[in-house]
Amino acid sequence: MKYNFDEIIPRRGTSCVKHDILNKVFGSDDVISMWVADMDFKSPDFVFDAIKKRCEHEVLGYTFGSDSYYDTLINWFDTHYSLKVERQQLHFIPGIVAGISFVLLAFTNLGDSVLIMNPVYPPFINLPQKNGRKLSISRLNIENGRFAIDFDDLDKKARGCKLMILSNPHNPGGTVWTAEELRKIAEICNRHGVLVISDEIHADLTLPAFKHVSFASVSEVARNNSITFIAPSKTFSIAGLSSSASCIFDATIRDKFYGFLDNTEIANGNIFAYTGAEAAFKYGEEWRLQMLDYLQGNIDFVKDYLKEQLPWLKAVMPEASYLIWLDFNATGLSHQELKEKLVKEAKVGINSGLDFGDGYDGFFRMNVGCPRAVIRQALENIKLTF
Ligand SMILES: Cc1ncc(COP(=O)(O)O)c(C=O)c1O
Repeated sequence: MKYNFDEIIPRRGTSCVKHDILNKVFGSDDVISMWVADMDFKSPDFVFDAIKKRCEHEVLGYTFGSDSYYDTLINWFDTHYSLKVERQQLHFIPGIVAGISFVLLAFTNLGDSVLIMNPVYPPFINLPQKNGRKLSISRLNIENGRFAIDFDDLDKKARGCKLMILSNPHNPGGTVWTAEELRKIAEICNRHGVLVISDEIHADLTLPAFKHVSFASVSEVARNNSITFIAPSKTFSIAGLSSSASCIFDATIRDKFYGFLDNTEIANGNIFAYTGAEAAFKYGEEWRLQMLDYLQGNIDFVKDYLKEQLPWLKAVMPEASYLIWLDFNATGLSHQELKEKLVKEAKVGINSGLDFGDGYDGFFRMNVGCPRAVIRQALENIKLTF
């Protein structure tokens, strides 16, 4: 079966974060929405079929994750991340951002420090800060068009921290961290007694030329000092189902975290979260591979367009996922001027770099998880504006 990712599906009027709160986010509804990491592709039929089938039963009562749900996760960990996982090592999580908050609450106290690598997905910055924790920030450098870790700096910044929140692959910029890079992170964190959250929500969006490396797979040290989060949400266009899962190998960390989740009852699933995730991971491989080919086509399209039409606009091109980190600094405009021109003249709604950490003036993040015609229009608008 060939899926059609060129189809434009109007999403306005569905309480959709990406398209229905543009005025609040950008001060205008009249922008091409390319911000939050949500794709505009139709959610797959096999997910709808499973949910519809469940709806044929007339009682939507309390529901737990079935053996078949957990077996599907176990199989996905084995086939996609080379990790042999047991049922007891897994837990349902109602969204990874919530999961990160739960870890903050269970493993850190007010005033503790949390290690992150900027620029990074805004909740990694906001969750610790808004909950009375301190941030210790190691800044990534752009080397040969890819984010690179300064390990000496990471080592210094890890000192005194309780927790590291790692985006693996990285958001923004879609860096697929190598086994060697992950091994070094694991060694540094272990030496300083820093527990690692490996947020692998973008793992299954790793582009065809790259291979995702799961943090827990790189060494014993990584395996025994980490909490891994995965989710079908981004990959299969089903973020609204709020379905994700954690995996913990170390029994002490697991007892503490899963004990916290169970004693507080804050991580119970719901019928559609289980049903949708199981269907996605059970039947989704062909759809996923075709979608990734399409995404690669989008990224190649942007790469060629920038090279030919906007050579001054520098970009970190993703190795995973559909987020492109753009550097508008060659325009010589201030960040505020750029924001205004992008919204009012180019009519393009992309994320401000300043949401990903201090000092990213002139940077913006563009989401190309959408039909190619939308990207073409946005780039043409940018070309006409600058
Ligand atoms: C790195 C990362 N983690 C987590 C999330 C969101 O996860 P969830 O919707 O499961 O809370 C995103 C969404 O953009 C993300 O990029």
